Amino acid sequence: MAQFNETELTAAVVKSFEQTPNPRAKFLLQELVKSLHDYVSKTGLTFEEWEYAIDFLTRTGHKCTDIRQEFILLSDVFGVSMLVDAVNHRDRDGATETTVLGPFYVGEHKVTPHGTDVSESLEGERMFVQSRVTDLNGKPLAGVPVDIWHADGDGFYDSQKETYATEGAVSRARFITDSDGSFFFRTILPCSYPIPTDGPVGEMIMQTKRHPMRPAHIHFLVNAPGYEPLITHVFIEGDKYIDSDVVFGVKDELIAKVEKRSDPTMPDGKKADAPWHLMTYEFRVKPGGGMAPKPLGTKVAEPA
Ligand code: BEZ
Ligand code: FE
Repeated sequence: MAQFNETELTAAVVKSFEQTPNPRAKFLLQELVKSLHDYVSKTGLTFEEWEYAIDFLTRTGHKCTDIRQEFILLSDVFGVSMLVDAVNHRDRDGATETTVLGPFYVGEHKVTPHGTDVSESLEGERMFVQSRVTDLNGKPLAGVPVDIWHADGDGFYDSQKETYATEGAVSRARFITDSDGSFFFRTILPCSYPIPTDGPVGEMIMQTKRHPMRPAHIHFLVNAPGYEPLITHVFIEGDKYIDSDVVFGVKDELIAKVEKRSDPTMPDGKKADAPWHLMTYEFRVKPGGGMAPKPLGTKVAEPA
């Protein structure tokens, strides 16, 4: 009967994965075991702490549904999502910076005509967003699907509200770029908002005296065929939380100056009923491939 001391135990578990047919899966599992064992040894983890961790992860799982992802939130607040992003985007070559996908990329993003107010049913100061997608040389890219999503004036995404089941998408759409690579839409000026605090991840944030806020932003997923999918946000300059995002997602290049305007018409020539805001931002994408993320609730295939 084998009897292992601490060091031998790690080696034995690593060896138990030796026959894993997929070399990458074998490597990932063996390294995971080594890191986990190292954590337990280094911290001298007690049974009580281990039990708490198991319960925490169980509660995290129970909080998940097809449209609520507490594990993504956990990865985000530990900075793991931004680290995965960083190791996968080491050389930008002038392409727009990337940031977290977040847990609210859900449901269908319907192709929507340019100029549409994607937040028509919401109160808030109106904002006109004008944008363009180009390659690294500034050549406009036509026919590119761009998904956008953002929170309402109270800081909630459509999928967090009871009305989502009946009313569907709000502040969530897909635009297809024109021949000059451009797209534009209307919405409300987004505000900073807390990540969900009604689950185990939020509890941890509050108990550890971190704040739960994200600075105001709009999410963009630019999915040009033949180019790396670009998952990013545009943040609004001057936000109180721009330097302390709870998920560490802000990059200087992604901060836009949003101008307050009082012109009677918006850039597409249509009348403005009240002073409005103008966000202008261009996206540069990098040749390559890669799969765009699927909205939550879609089954994820095993990696190759
Ligand atoms: C978001 O921006 O939607 C988000 C990102 C990470 C965690 C929570 C929310
Ligand atoms: Fe967000």
